[in-house]
Amino acid sequence: MLIQEIIRRKRDGQTLDRQMLDLVMRGIADDTVGDAQIGAFAMAVYLNGMHEAEATALTEAIRDSGQVLSWDDLDLAGPVLDKHSTGGVGDLVSLVLGPWIAACGGHVPMISGRGLGHTGGTLDKLESIPGYDITPSEATFRRLVQEVGVAIIGQTGALAPADKRLYGVRDVTATVESLPLIVASILGKKLACGLGSLVMDVKVGSGAFMPTPEASRELAEAIVATGCAAGTRTSVLLTDMNQPLARCAGNALEVAAALEVLRGDDRHSRLYRVTQALASEMLIQSGLARDAQDAERRLAQTLDNGAALERFGRMVHGLGGPADFTQRAAHYLPTAPVVHEVAAPRDGVVHAIDTRALGLAVVELGGGRRNAGDAIDPRVGLSHIAELGQTLSAGEPLLRVHAADREAAEALSARLSDAFHLEAGAADIPPLVHATLR
Ligand code: URA
Repeated sequence: MLIQEIIRRKRDGQTLDRQMLDLVMRGIADDTVGDAQIGAFAMAVYLNGMHEAEATALTEAIRDSGQVLSWDDLDLAGPVLDKHSTGGVGDLVSLVLGPWIAACGGHVPMISGRGLGHTGGTLDKLESIPGYDITPSEATFRRLVQEVGVAIIGQTGALAPADKRLYGVRDVTATVESLPLIVASILGKKLACGLGSLVMDVKVGSGAFMPTPEASRELAEAIVATGCAAGTRTSVLLTDMNQPLARCAGNALEVAAALEVLRGDDRHSRLYRVTQALASEMLIQSGLARDAQDAERRLAQTLDNGAALERFGRMVHGLGGPADFTQRAAHYLPTAPVVHEVAAPRDGVVHAIDTRALGLAVVELGGGRRNAGDAIDPRVGLSHIAELGQTLSAGEPLLRVHAADREAAEALSARLSDAFHLEAGAADIPPLVHATLR
């Protein structure tokens, strides 16, 4: 069947079957489908939507547009599982969760991304560790997943190649905001990793990828339905992004925050609690824990005995980082030459935070990219970020800016101050986990 006939069907509101979607996705992957056709296909899906079975077929077609990893030959002792997030600010969950799950007996082949828009990227964070290689050989990746239980690396050209071109064209044709295209893009990539189960962290709030809580919920429901229909046990936690998850944002700063949790020194923060909730869901879903109590016990044990930290250290060393990174992180992680405090302009309680604005400030400091090829400055970012509900007096710090120079820090001060809404009286604090969907 001709590609233009498939596009015509979708344009006219008809349903596409798996065979047709395979033709389009394979053609995108091998460059026989042109950018104009990709744009027309994406717009037809954007305008007409997709039925549940059709969205599942699209997800499977993206998954199968390249290599699909299989772990069967390795005879792994535990399940193969992963977590993926729609992204946020100060969302460094993956750095902690991967090694923590490995310490509990799971195998986590985590293919992560770079920063996107105002949200940080796991790969950019890991690259603040000297020597860390996000593009190892497949043999190294598989060996680490087998022996250490976790490897966090970058997308390879071989996995779900149709998504890379399709996403690039969507980005410039105003077709990113289509539920079936988003679901198929996220899940197509993840399911190509040969997972037995997947937990998704869909963010809700002022720093979330989806613009409203309703849209986040809709995405979560579609992910559960599609993931399960495509044969991978999938659940979603809707978690709060009305403020940065960690009290810092920026690449090296977030690696340091991850180590604090892995050392067991941070067991009360929102970062800890969200990571623990996601880890618990993963352990139960994959059969590594009987129930929530069992999961909690195993997670506490692997922090207490240092096993989770040890897995992180082995992963870092296995991917080219220093052997003693976890013992001497302060020596290895770069720090910014200027640390500038932004003060509260008046007395008040933090009622709202423009989380997106904080994420964009990190990008402007050089901690993210304005253009695809930009270099990242791992040293810069924000720390000591005031939390929702915190009472501040005028002059007390809202946050600290870590910058390459004083001008860069001062240029952002007014905007950063405006990102915090201070009012009198108690603030409404949103729940950390809004809902769990299975
Ligand atoms: N993240 C993805 O990987 N794909 C999308 O379409 C949106 C967010």
